[in-house]
Amino acid sequence: MQLQITRPDDWHLHLRDGAALASVVSASARCFARAIIMPNLKPPVTTVAQALAYRQRILAALPPEADFQPLMTLYLTDNTAPQEIEILAKTPGMLGVKYYPAGATTNADAGVTDLRKVWGVLEAMQSYEVPLLIHGEVTAASIDIFDREYLFVRHVLDPLLEAFPCLRVTLEHITTTEAVDFVLAGESRLAASITAHHLLLNRNAIFQGGIRPHYYCLPVLKREIHRQALLEAATSGHPRFFAGTDSAPHARQHKECACGCAGLYTAPAALELYAEAFNSLEALDKLEAFVSFRGADFYRLPRNSGSLTLEQRDWMMPEHFNFAEHEEVIPLRAGQTIHWQLAVPA
Ligand code: NCD
Ligand code: ZN
Repeated sequence: MQLQITRPDDWHLHLRDGAALASVVSASARCFARAIIMPNLKPPVTTVAQALAYRQRILAALPPEADFQPLMTLYLTDNTAPQEIEILAKTPGMLGVKYYPAGATTNADAGVTDLRKVWGVLEAMQSYEVPLLIHGEVTAASIDIFDREYLFVRHVLDPLLEAFPCLRVTLEHITTTEAVDFVLAGESRLAASITAHHLLLNRNAIFQGGIRPHYYCLPVLKREIHRQALLEAATSGHPRFFAGTDSAPHARQHKECACGCAGLYTAPAALELYAEAFNSLEALDKLEAFVSFRGADFYRLPRNSGSLTLEQRDWMMPEHFNFAEHEEVIPLRAGQTIHWQLAVPA
């Protein structure tokens, strides 16, 4: 079986920097035409000048034949200057601002401690129509890790949207029925991205026969009922759910240790894994809109021209890939079968 679709985009991607960047960027560029690049480097990307310099490093790391556009984001901190938003809005290659609640995830220490500190920035974003991309999890230590997303939606996102009635918002990598319902009930300025791994896995994966660090990501995998709700949302044809892989590579030794990092490296088969998820509901006819149209429409960008072909054919994901200098990264499904494959262009 073959499926031809318009070239897709990845609306949430971690490419890292330096030698690590060079080892992962082609996995995304092999199929995605564009990707929103996350700014959670060390130190974070907090100015347009830094984002443009990072963009140049990404372009320089691409294989010569690649046709891939990085869309850059700024990392919102308590100290972001509202003036930076005007610069962002006028700079080609810049897409939006990423809000990490301080401490919510990998390299989120410099995130926002209190939204009141960034009120002026949000006002500027609203007036320049700059989208806010949100890692939607509350961070209080007393709150159960599995409840962090829906409590964020209820207690932070809902009031935020009320306070800024024209702010454009993406709730990124959603993982719960509550987030799905909130987006369904929301206005057209609110959208959500969904990863392939949250469509394919529930939280049992983290504990299958022992503790499995390569299934630990944030937001953490949830119960099966949530996975079902995400699958339903993704395949529903609703215009405000779209693909964002959240492919987040870490060196093997930073995953397999006493305090392993959060993040799944899905880029080597991200599109193929979305195809698997959609096929599980016999909804392959909805895949193209989800991976190639909805995100572009929401971000008011042209849809891609050109197409690619997926074939239903088994292949084996390598056990690991080289990563940075003398390290390796373990992809999702390492050493296991992937059921779809990109056809090599004739
Ligand atoms: C991401 C990373 O490693 O940068 N990790 C993850 O589990 N998704 C950060 C993030 O997006 O939360
Ligand atoms: Zn991410």
